[in-house]
Amino acid sequence: PATVDVYFHVIQAGTTLANGNVPATQVQAQIDVLNEDFASTGLSFRLRNTTRTTNSGWFNNAGPNTSQQTAMKNALRQGGAAALNIYTVGFRSAATDGLLGYATFPSSYSSAPRDDGVVALYSSLPGGTATNFNLGRTITHEVGHWVGLYHTFQGGCSGSGDQVSDTPAEASFATGCPIGRDTCSSAGVDPIHNFMDYTDDACMSEFTTGQTTRLTSQLATYRGI
Ligand code: ARG
Ligand code: ZN
Ligand code: CA
Repeated sequence: PATVDVYFHVIQAGTTLANGNVPATQVQAQIDVLNEDFASTGLSFRLRNTTRTTNSGWFNNAGPNTSQQTAMKNALRQGGAAALNIYTVGFRSAATDGLLGYATFPSSYSSAPRDDGVVALYSSLPGGTATNFNLGRTITHEVGHWVGLYHTFQGGCSGSGDQVSDTPAEASFATGCPIGRDTCSSAGVDPIHNFMDYTDDACMSEFTTGQTTRLTSQLATYRGI
């Protein structure tokens, strides 16, 4: 039962909430959601520090593979392989429109240590304004990647999929909350309630035993946790 230290970096384009100035209560509420959602895995999270930076370039444009992301992480990342750095931004550029979040995998840490972490839309925090995605499960999902989990729809109906045997295969990501969806003939209905699918926050409620086994091994191998 490991505890992960969290360094939370709030990026703002100004001083209003609509410009990313999320209050400390919302940051702590996000940590609480992580602790609830990961409780079955034995992993817990402790907020070590919150930083606040006003930078509209980072707030608007810090998508995957951008110079703004690199500059942001180089300036702010704290800790080693075991430290979880979370950045909240606005994703207001054309290239990032509609993005909720993205993350790095444990196996990438050794080759790109400063890139390691989770970037998420500030309005996806619990109580935020992102419709259907404002219960904090975006960061739960992204932290799922950060501990080494793939999407439940990885590989579609065939192949090695998400490398976890107790998440039934599904042909593609599910949206909304389609109870009973069954897109592959292999056993089991689609795992729409899994945190590693793409369903609405209110639909998501579980990591499986197999995912716990995988994340435990990934954390031991790559993060020394
Ligand atoms: N990587 C996904 C995206 O950016 C995140 C999905 C989060 N899902 C959720 N229900 N919060 O679209
Ligand atoms: Zn994902
Ligand atoms: Ca099936």
